[in-house]
Amino acid sequence: MLIQNESPFVVHVFVCTNDRGGERQSCADNNSQLIKEKLKAAVDSKGWKGKVRVSTSGCMGVCAQGANVMIYPQKLWFSGVSTDDVDEIVAAIEEIMERL
Ligand code: FES
Repeated sequence: MLIQNESPFVVHVFVCTNDRGGERQSCADNNSQLIKEKLKAAVDSKGWKGKVRVSTSGCMGVCAQGANVMIYPQKLWFSGVSTDDVDEIVAAIEEIMERL
């Protein structure tokens, strides 16, 4: 039976971790797994659990610009993300959370 619900999350962060194994450029080539782990740790340390969710995503079709991080429902896409950019993404999430 199909059940439709509203998302329980204020911010849902999708980190593409798709890995093409070197066949073509993919987000995994730019440490997206580590980016995801750092974002998850930030969500925990900020006390956002239950409001902000970090999930793995498959390919979003912009592989050459990876790593890619997408935030919904705010429709923010971050491309060319490296592990050094995590703080900036966390700051963007913080800005969203402060507007609540
Ligand atoms: S591999 Fe990440 S967008 Fe395609």
